[in-house]
Amino acid sequence: MIQEVIITTRSSTGVNQIAPMGIVWHGQQVVVAPFRPSRTLANILSEGCAVINYCDDVRVFAGCLTGHYEWPLAEAEQVSAPRLAAALAHSEVKLQRVEDDPLRPRLFCQPVCEANHRPFRGFNRGQAAVLELAILVSRLNRLPPDKIEREIEYLEISMDKTAGENEWQAWDWLIEKVYILRQQIKESTE
Ligand SMILES: Cc1cc2nc3c(=O)[nH]c(=O)nc-3n(C[C@H](O)[C@H](O)[C@H](O)COP(=O)(O)O)c2cc1C
Repeated sequence: MIQEVIITTRSSTGVNQIAPMGIVWHGQQVVVAPFRPSRTLANILSEGCAVINYCDDVRVFAGCLTGHYEWPLAEAEQVSAPRLAAALAHSEVKLQRVEDDPLRPRLFCQPVCEANHRPFRGFNRGQAAVLELAILVSRLNRLPPDKIEREIEYLEISMDKTAGENEWQAWDWLIEKVYILRQQIKESTE
C-alpha cells in the first residue's frame, strides 16, 4: 500500500524542502522513492534523515506543486530536518540503505521518533479529489488533454458535494496550474 505524505528535509547548507511523496512500509522500515532529479533525494542522501508528515491539509500537497511553499515548520526532535506544523502526526526517520536506480532510487529508512499532534477526523472525498488532481498535474505533460478534462469533471462531483474551504483553495491553485501548463505545452508545440 502506498500512502501519500509530505516529506520534509534539510540540505547541507540549511535550506528546507517540502515535497509530497508516496511511501511504502516494509515491516519496521519505510521506503521513500524520489524520481531523479530531486532535492528531497539529495537532502536525504547528504543528511541521512527526513521527516514523514501525515497531513490532511491538502493545501500543502497542492501548494508544493503550485509554488505555495510557506507552510509553518517546527524543529524535529531527533533528526536534522524540519517537521510540518500542520501535520496530524510525524515520523522522524534515518536512512539505512539505498537501492540505487538511474530513474528512481529506493531509500530504506528507519523511524527513530514518532509523535501525534491532533486527531484524524475521518476521510473527506474532496481531499481525495484534490490529491488525484495533484497527481494529474504532476503528470500533465504525459497525459492526453481529453483524459485530463474527463478526470477533472469526475473529481469535481466529490468537490461540489463534500469539499470545505481548504479543499477549494487547493483545487483552485491546481486548476490554475492545469491551464498554465496546458498553455505552455501548446506554445512549445506551435
Ligand atoms: C500525492 C503526490 C505524491 C507524489 N509522490 C512522489 C513520489 O513518490 N516520488 C517523487 O519523486 N515525486 C512524487 N510526487 C511529485 C513530487 O512531489 C514533486 O515532483 C516534487 O517537486 C519533488 O521534487 P523535490 O524533491 O525536488 O522537491 C508526488 C506528488 C504528489 C502530489
